[in-house]
Amino acid sequence: MPRKIIIDTDPGVDDAMAIFFALRSPELDVIGLTTIFGNVHTSLATTNALRLLEIAGRPDIPVAKGSDHPLAVPFGGPVPFVHGDDGQGNVHLPAPTTAPLDQSAAAFIVEQVMAAPGAITLVPVGPLTNIALALRLEPRIIERVREVVLMGGNALAPGNATPAAEANVHNDPEAADVVLGAGWPITMVGLDVTHKVHMSGAHLAQYAQAANPLAQHIARIVPFYRAYFERCFPGSEGIYVHDSSAIAYLLDPGLFETRQWPIRVETQGISRGKTWPATGSGNDAHPAAWQGRPPVNVCIGVDGARLVALELERLTRS
Ligand code: RIB
Ligand code: CA
Repeated sequence: MPRKIIIDTDPGVDDAMAIFFALRSPELDVIGLTTIFGNVHTSLATTNALRLLEIAGRPDIPVAKGSDHPLAVPFGGPVPFVHGDDGQGNVHLPAPTTAPLDQSAAAFIVEQVMAAPGAITLVPVGPLTNIALALRLEPRIIERVREVVLMGGNALAPGNATPAAEANVHNDPEAADVVLGAGWPITMVGLDVTHKVHMSGAHLAQYAQAANPLAQHIARIVPFYRAYFERCFPGSEGIYVHDSSAIAYLLDPGLFETRQWPIRVETQGISRGKTWPATGSGNDAHPAAWQGRPPVNVCIGVDGARLVALELERLTRS
């Protein structure tokens, strides 16, 4: 039986790659997309989710629109310089012919998880607001979910949105602190590993050669995203594979090296959004800060070459 997943997403070029990677993986059954602000506003994230499902030939998969803003503060705004004004590398897709559900993302998550105890895995690859709202709506999802595997955070690595913080967590640190402290089975696939998963120009060229509409869409949208990386990381070539790394964890956790560390999220000052692990070394000088916090399965190492090969294999076959 394929594993049932809900992807909570802010598409986003790398989100599109992750969604398509999941859809092309027979081990996974994508039962819904829920949308969130981040790379774009939530309304455009919702439009893009619908568009991506049409491109993939899966308009039957429901899309539920999520929150327009973080739990505690206004949304800081999208990042058109990374993903384009349209969130899809400025290719400006036609409007979708389908519509989102008349149900919020949080309500959809609660309904699905409660209806199938132990069966649903949540895969957030954007800010964690919808997941925190679902917990607020129905705390029993903690016992009913199979697992949460998120892309976000940075335990030992520096940030990307700021020197301290990763973008998804930085966009809603209060929500991330709730989700990482909920006490459910949860894996953090953050910058500690995604900055070790690199697709080169030669890898990316394979999408253009592939005769399927998913790979063809990736080939269209990735040049804008790649240009951002090469501009902002001088000397680099190609892209980091952020959101797809969470999908790869579901397919083959053996690709990753993990540690069990409780995590707290900084919500104040210049380090707002930093995910702090209690590693059992220097941080234990201040154990009270992690008192009562459950362990999180934190990815700290990855076989990036094998991960990239897995994603390309899934997405470039006809
Ligand atoms: O930090 C990487 C994350 O931020 C990814 O989810 C990417 O899509 C952006 O939102
Ligand atoms: Ca994302």
